[in-house]
Amino acid sequence: MKLIRVRDYEDMSRKVANIIGAHIILKPTTVLGLATGTTPIGTYQRLIKGYEDGDLDFSQVRSYNLDEYRGLTHEDPQSYHYFMNDQLFNHVNIDPSNVHVPDGANPDADAACSEYDRMVEEAGYCDLQLLGIGRNGHIGFNEPDEVFSKGTHCVDLTQSTIEANARLFEREEDVPRQAYTMGTQTIMNARLIVMAVTGENKAQALHDMCYGPVTPQCPASILQLHPNVIVVADEAALSLCK
Ligand code: PGA
Repeated sequence: MKLIRVRDYEDMSRKVANIIGAHIILKPTTVLGLATGTTPIGTYQRLIKGYEDGDLDFSQVRSYNLDEYRGLTHEDPQSYHYFMNDQLFNHVNIDPSNVHVPDGANPDADAACSEYDRMVEEAGYCDLQLLGIGRNGHIGFNEPDEVFSKGTHCVDLTQSTIEANARLFEREEDVPRQAYTMGTQTIMNARLIVMAVTGENKAQALHDMCYGPVTPQCPASILQLHPNVIVVADEAALSLCK
């Protein structure tokens, strides 16, 4: 694991966007694995600026998002597909047919998940997978569990994740209880993983990911076994990593 220490959220966003941008410049057909949440918003803003400045061309980029709430269509403003359109895709020249998010509107979980696995596999897996980390160590919606997950699957969200995500909904009851998520194995198939972490509330998860045992109780700990991980973290997130 390579660690890049940054000052704060802004600094993290710039550096992560520079890493992603460099990949797109070097390989215009880059397959990106993208994430939602608060962490990547600043990174996406920087990528949009890179496009507006004429430095980045997304026309051949393909993207595969980590996860989607089960039961939400891509037009639903609370869906992750909508979030990605709003935060990134609508503002760059990515071809909409190259954008992929699990189909939360498909109530047949097995069909939705195996179709997504087929698409990611056909793309040859991600060149670069951007990840955030949950306070409980989750990556995507791979929550603490008895085993590491493999392909895309339907998960019951933990109470801590529901509470963490409730800030984006009017009421906690509105947070969907299930999601379709890329599995841990699929995430591990990415050639490069970039993990972005800021804030003290992630310090324990980051510590456990880097220094704890490799255990599905902290799904991110599997990244210790990946040969090419860059962690971009600020001092607050690193406060327990002495
Ligand atoms: P956050 O979520 O970026 O909103 O903190 C990260 C995650 O839960 O993976």
